[in-house]
Amino acid sequence: AAGGLRVRSAFRKGLFTDKVAIVTGGGTGIGKAIAQELLYLGCKVMIASRSEEKVRTAAEEMSSLIPTDSPAQVKALQCNIRKEEDVKNLFSTTIGEFGKLDFLVNNAGGQFPSPAAQISLKGWNAVVDTNLNGTFLCCREAYHSWMAENGGVIVNIIADMWKGFPMMSHTGAARAAVDNLTKSLALEWAANGIRINSVAPGSSIYSDTAARNYSATENVFLREVPNIPAKRLGKPEEVCCGFAIILITLFSTGNHLF
Ligand code: ADE
Repeated sequence: AAGGLRVRSAFRKGLFTDKVAIVTGGGTGIGKAIAQELLYLGCKVMIASRSEEKVRTAAEEMSSLIPTDSPAQVKALQCNIRKEEDVKNLFSTTIGEFGKLDFLVNNAGGQFPSPAAQISLKGWNAVVDTNLNGTFLCCREAYHSWMAENGGVIVNIIADMWKGFPMMSHTGAARAAVDNLTKSLALEWAANGIRINSVAPGSSIYSDTAARNYSATENVFLREVPNIPAKRLGKPEEVCCGFAIILITLFSTGNHLF
């Protein structure tokens, strides 16, 4: 399509030709913007999501936007990152179809706004299971299926929870845990040539999916605008700037080894 992908990069088109990436939660919001950035850079991208329909529709839409002279490709796979078997299938299918794995972007996650006092055990466990346990399963499978032998790059998308995350204590705790997991894995897997870091978007990043998740308090986003220094909400595409810089830094660091 002449219009091309919605996201353009600060980096050179085609920079990641012949690279292969998995983006979890790649069908919507920040994950979809990241997938488009990677496609712009020439990557082969597997987007994964719990919802088969969402991820398939998103892949068809993105695929139709890839210019005909681009090496980029996008495929979709249903995967609930809470399920070990789904995660194993995601990695074996991606490596089977694209031949290798260079980048893993752990973006899939979810939460609902609630005062901590009102969070049920079931709700707490669901948020921790997706955001922390699911991310751990994906990192571990990336290691065993490909990166232990071949190196690679992992970027975990967390959240700006550094000073606490009121109304989001479950996800704040889970994302802080992922930040620490990131540091442990960076040290444990450094000798395998695995480079790993995290990106923490602010809660002012608006996406339709987030707005729908928060529908009981639909105006949380708009209510925050006066407190945002820029006096406007952020777009998923803006997270890509930080994402791309982290990715390229990790890619460049130690890349000569491979
Ligand atoms: N997005 C939100 N929750 C998810 C899950 N459990 N698996 C994959 N993608 C998701």
